[in-house]
Amino acid sequence: MTIVPIPFNRAGLVGNEFKYISQALEFGHISGDGRFTIKCHELLEKELGVTKALLTTSCTHALEMAALLLDLQPGDEVIVPSFTFVSTVNAFVLRGARPVFCDIRADTLNLDEQKIERLITSRTKAIIAVHYAGVGCDMDSILMLAKRHGIAVIEDNAHGLFGKFKGRYLGTFGCLATQSFHETKNFTCGEGGALLINDPSYVERAEIIREKGTNRNRFFRGQVDKYTWVDLGSSYLPSDVLAAFLFAQLECRDQIQSRRRHIWKYYREHLEEWASRNGVRLPFVPEYCEQPWHMFYMLMPSLKARQALIAHLKAREILSVFHYLPLHLSEMGRRLGGKENDCPVTECVSASVIRLPFYSELTEADQARVVSAIHEFVDA
Ligand SMILES: Cc1ncc(COP(=O)(O)O)c(C=O)c1O
Repeated sequence: MTIVPIPFNRAGLVGNEFKYISQALEFGHISGDGRFTIKCHELLEKELGVTKALLTTSCTHALEMAALLLDLQPGDEVIVPSFTFVSTVNAFVLRGARPVFCDIRADTLNLDEQKIERLITSRTKAIIAVHYAGVGCDMDSILMLAKRHGIAVIEDNAHGLFGKFKGRYLGTFGCLATQSFHETKNFTCGEGGALLINDPSYVERAEIIREKGTNRNRFFRGQVDKYTWVDLGSSYLPSDVLAAFLFAQLECRDQIQSRRRHIWKYYREHLEEWASRNGVRLPFVPEYCEQPWHMFYMLMPSLKARQALIAHLKAREILSVFHYLPLHLSEMGRRLGGKENDCPVTECVSASVIRLPFYSELTEADQARVVSAIHEFVDA
């Protein structure tokens, strides 16, 4: 009997994606800022209560826009987790900033707010808060610290759309926040992202940066009679075809989230007992955080056990993955001065974390297969 592989991720369709793409084509405007882009902006602004949402071609590009908006100069410093995706840091290094790596908390795997202040210097311009797995960083402490030192807070909310910290949506705390609509995310258009703007003073310049450094948006609104090059920028706006796909997904957010909630809870319920018997840690979500059911990870007792479990699952045609490798120990991180033991919790978590297959269309039968394969694993 052939065993059908269970992938780690598979982007699913929720209903109106093709219909809206056809409509975008019929409207005859498939470049950026067409009708569906505007619909996505309005939905995000209304639902989250942010001043402005701007779709971008990726979360990476939204982060690059944030770095441009902060006017970072060579030698400026940004405090970043090492346990994150490359773009969280690379976007700021592109502007000449120096990343100062901060360790994470062992429970939420988010920036350790107790370890930030000692890293602040007169050159510090921003703290980049990544809400790992969409579980909120301690935004009370981070915002208080940033305010005291006059530095900006940017939220990298790639995982956390519709997650909440103390009843308030993630992405609404920093002066700027970024979202990802990459195919691995809860809501997707293949590749995509958004910049959320909470400080209105950034809106006009953000529109310019997103439109190749021109004031084209003002021209379209009839505020100037021709558009011209006014600032630095790039092409950060996605095609309306992608926005049409994304709008279909965002419209069905309750359906998607409820399905993912079910998947997450199934893993938790069926793995809890096995995990406690084998010294494995399941995700921790503080009671004041509402998570958006983005991923299910486990922390294995050792690197050896983690690698053995990945191989054990792979032999059963189940794909699990690990991430992130500590950025301060990457080739680039080391060139910037990173060395072993700079961020001990990050180093330990990175060696033990494993992520299980997680996507909206994962069936209960397939999940049962993943769970029973894990129960058979004896090496932990
Ligand atoms: C925390 C974090 N930030 C940024 C990104 C980059 O997102 P994108 O692929 O949309 O550029 C990712 C990608 O998964 C991520 O995990």
